[in-house]
Parts: sequence; structure tokens; C-alpha cells
Amino acid sequence: MTRPSTPVLTPDPTNRDSAFLKTMRGEAAPHTPVWFMRQAGRYMPEYRALRAGRSMLECIRTPELAAEITLQPIKAMPMDAAILFNDILTPLPVMGLDLDFVGGVGPQISNRIETPFDVDRLGVPAAAEVMPYTAESIKLVRQELDPRGVPLIGFVGAPFTLASYAIEGKGSRNYERTKRFMYGEPAAWHRLMDKFETILADYLAEQVKAGAQAVQIFDSWVGALSIYDYVTFVKPATGRLIERTKKLGVPVIYFGTSTHHLLPQMSSLGSDVMGIDWRTPLNDAWKLIQPGQGVQGNLDPLLLQGPWRELKHQTDRILAEVDGRPGHIFNVGHGLLPETPVDMVRRLVDYVHEQTAK
Ligand code: CP3
Repeated sequence: MTRPSTPVLTPDPTNRDSAFLKTMRGEAAPHTPVWFMRQAGRYMPEYRALRAGRSMLECIRTPELAAEITLQPIKAMPMDAAILFNDILTPLPVMGLDLDFVGGVGPQISNRIETPFDVDRLGVPAAAEVMPYTAESIKLVRQELDPRGVPLIGFVGAPFTLASYAIEGKGSRNYERTKRFMYGEPAAWHRLMDKFETILADYLAEQVKAGAQAVQIFDSWVGALSIYDYVTFVKPATGRLIERTKKLGVPVIYFGTSTHHLLPQMSSLGSDVMGIDWRTPLNDAWKLIQPGQGVQGNLDPLLLQGPWRELKHQTDRILAEVDGRPGHIFNVGHGLLPETPVDMVRRLVDYVHEQTAK
């Protein structure tokens, strides 16, 4: 597989001194920055109103809509970063997989990958040509974010997590089809990882060129693998993706769930920050990752459904585990849930800011 060289871009100086970007660089910040995975979503009435009668993909592919949804949580609360409204599955249709987001069910792919031939029929088109709306959305969002001092995060899914959807055809509990393919067709599996690496590196380069000031790579489901399988089947292509992304000149967060056992391997790929799910205490996580890496996390999103007493207690517990060291970005340990009361989210953002103000 040919790998076009990734352009080296000049770092964007805008909002360089924001708490979020300082922390991403491992520098001391005036307070602990806070943002939440899925901070734009169904828990917000503004989101539900805008989504009414419109499909997920329509919103993603219409820059004015994607920009508006991205800004909804920023307008409602003092978040320290915005994340572009998009989905990790957006590259699948442009590669030839028929994706639909089915309400109440989740993503569905009608022509999932079943054979090595199916891998070879996947296209790897240039992101700028087939997903131009993403760069447009980023440019629109930046116009609104820059005067507010809020930096923008771009993102992609990681090769394993995307392969799991491409092969299962939907979300999964045990990734049985994915593992069967990985073990049974190792050559085709590696070709699939390479194809994802190529399109994802290109897509992230497009996002950074358009104005994303940091990026997160979501490897949400990689925790289903043993250490051996991660190293053998996933680490090489993911490592190349992270290496190429780092050359873009913006800081990189690498996130997964149920990854306690994988943290030494995942962190060795050299992202600036490791996203930690709610299962691992942050002081333990810090011992498992590389020296100098930051951590992002890691409140159980269910705690935002209350009571405040327990939410406050566990927020204090997390901040105590961090114990004032630089390089902590406060976040949930997995995305916000649709049942989350907006008031609890706002109260939490304010509380972390107050407790960590220097
Ligand atoms: O964080 C943000 O606010 C940015 C937006 C964002 C979405 N998806 C919007 C979305 C991000 C960062 C994602 C990433 C994503 N998408 C992941 C990785 C994070 C994680 O949760 O592990 C994954 C696995 C997906 C795939 C996906 N997209 C699933 C499984 C679903 C259905 C489940 C669900 O929550 O509905 C989606 C749909 C989706 N992506 C929604 C949103 C707001 C809900 C769609 C709706 O409004 O009905």
C-alpha cells in the first residue's frame, strides 16, 4: 500500500495559551481544562430540536448544521474545548460500505466485510475530495470559537475500532466476527488496517489543515483484545497513524475503553495524552503510560445522573488522584449518555474549574 507523505504544517498560534492547549503540551495551566466526549448530543434539548427530521449523516455532511451542533455545548457551558460534530464512522461510506444510523439501534452496515475480497474492494479516496464538508465545518466553527478563546478538537476512529464496525456490520459485544477474520485471514486483516491507516491519516491532515488544533483518536473497543493480539494485529498500523498524526504539529490524544491491560502498549505509540476510561484510577494509569504523557479522564458518565453528592465525591476523588500534576484534562471515562441532565454537566464544569483554579 503506498503511503503519501504527511505534510508538516506550521502550528496554529490561535488560543495557544488556553488551558486546554497548555495542558495538552504538559504545561501548567490556570485551571484544569474540561470537555466531554459526546458533549454535543441527545442530552441537550437544542440538539434534539436541530436533529428532529434530519438524519445523522445529513447533519455531518451539512457544514452549517455540523458547526451549529458543535457550538451548542460551548454556548451553554464554559467548556475548555469544542469537538467537531462528526462520527468515527463517516469514512466508511466513502470507502464503499453502506452505513446507516438507525434510530434506537445504532449504526448498521448492509454490505459488511466478510471475505478478503471485500477488503480489496474498499476504496481509499482522498479525504479532501470525498469528505469536503468536514473542512468546511471546521472553518465555520473556528470563526465562532476563536473570539471565545476555545480551541477545536478534530478526531477519527482508530483502525481496530473502525474494522470492528466494518466486519460486524453493527456494534458488538464480543467482536466474534472481527476476531475470526483477524485470526483466519491475517494477510487481509493487515491490508484492512493499512487501508484505514491511509485514509485516517489523510482525514486528520485535512482536519488540521482546516483548523483543528488538537486531535483525538478513538479506539473505543480495542480493550476487547489481549495484549498479544493488540501487539500482533493492531499496534503496527495504529502506531504509524499516530506517528503521522504527530507530524501535523498538533497534540494527539489516544483513547480506548477497558484498556487497563493495554496501557503500556498503547502509550508506547507516543500520543501526547492518553484517554483513560472510568475503570482505572488516574494515579495507576500514570504509572502504566510513558513518562511525560498527559492523561484525560475519567469520570463514569453515569455519575452525571446524580445524586450531586456522589458526583462531587467522585470528582474530588479523581482530582485527588491527579494531585495537582500538570497534564490532566478532565473528561468522562466514556461519552455522555442521552439521559444526562444538562444542569449536572454545567455544575460539574463549574466545580472542576473552581476546585482547580490557581
Ligand atoms: O463528542 C462529541 O460531541 C462529538 C461527536 C461524536 C459523535 N460520535 C456523535 C454521535 C463523537 C466523538 C462520536 C464518536 C463515536 N461514534 C464513537 C467513539 C466514542 C465512543 O462512544 O466510544 C463511536 C463508537 C461511534 C459510533 C456510533 N455513533 C454509535 C455506536 C452510535 C449509536 C449509539 C448512540 O449513542 O446513539 C453513533 C451515533 C452518534 N454519534 C450519535 C451522536 C451524537 C447519536 C445519534 C443520535 O442523535 O441519535
